[in-house]
Amino acid sequence: MSNTVVITSGKGGVGKTTVTANLGYALARRGVNTLLIDGDVGLNNLDVALGMENRGAYDMADVMAGKCRVSQAILQVPGFPLYIMPSAHAVYSEQIKAGDFRALIARLGASFDYILIDCPAGIEGGFHRAVSASEYAVVVTTPHLSAVRDADKVVALLSGYDLKGVSLIVNRVRGDLLARGETLDPKQISRLLRYPLLGVIPEDDAAAKAGVQAEESSSRTAFEMTAGNMLTGEGRLYDPALRYRGFLGAIRSRLKKNA
Ligand SMILES: Nc1ncnc2c1ncn2[C@@H]1O[C@H](COP(=O)(O)OP(=O)(O)O)[C@@H](O)[C@H]1O
Ligand SMILES: [Mg+2]
Repeated sequence: MSNTVVITSGKGGVGKTTVTANLGYALARRGVNTLLIDGDVGLNNLDVALGMENRGAYDMADVMAGKCRVSQAILQVPGFPLYIMPSAHAVYSEQIKAGDFRALIARLGASFDYILIDCPAGIEGGFHRAVSASEYAVVVTTPHLSAVRDADKVVALLSGYDLKGVSLIVNRVRGDLLARGETLDPKQISRLLRYPLLGVIPEDDAAAKAGVQAEESSSRTAFEMTAGNMLTGEGRLYDPALRYRGFLGAIRSRLKKNA
């Protein structure tokens, strides 16, 4: 049986798709057989984030309509045990029923170690469909007050589901602001929302290029730590402020402020 995790958020645009793609890569780099599912029916975001757009002939709706076998709607990211099932492009979100989606996920569970579901924005039908098919939920927020406030609403909604665990990823944390105390600290956010931190991801342009992050980048390191936490529960967190602390760090921080 695989672990099924929905990646969700209160506010749109906080990084759900980016987190799903990068976390998927980080798990796959460790040899974990991972399937990413685009729960955003009607929009194809996840395949774009992975550089896998328009590769497949079939999608989730075709599987559900019995037009193809499940395996025909799953694409492999070359060179990794990482797979993606593109969202249904040609149907309206309401046409995919929660029960059918749950049954599909249960069926796929036998073939993968982890299934990550990129939850659609908002808390309407698509949210229910994705969450009710999952065992665990990860809530993504940024340190912005409006995002944290919306994350709080989602956390309250999630308590109505039968989940084995809920945890948080604070994304787009700016180390310079954190070092100067000018942004909410991820640990503070975790205390406010009363759920544990699974990961802290820095603001980093490289995060947008999940698939082509050949070189080291701060976000890649952070996603690797987050994947480690998922697998072992060890709780190591990336500290975006580290390079802005101490004497040299203060200079870096000042340079950044004046830039
Ligand atoms: N850690 C990050 N650093 C810099 N940019 C990021 C980071 N995470 C996400 N982004 C950018 O923010 C935008 C929204 O991210 P996305 O993953 O599409 O959000 P969502 O799926 O929640 O709507 C994208 O342009 C993405 O590249
Ligand atoms: Mg998205």
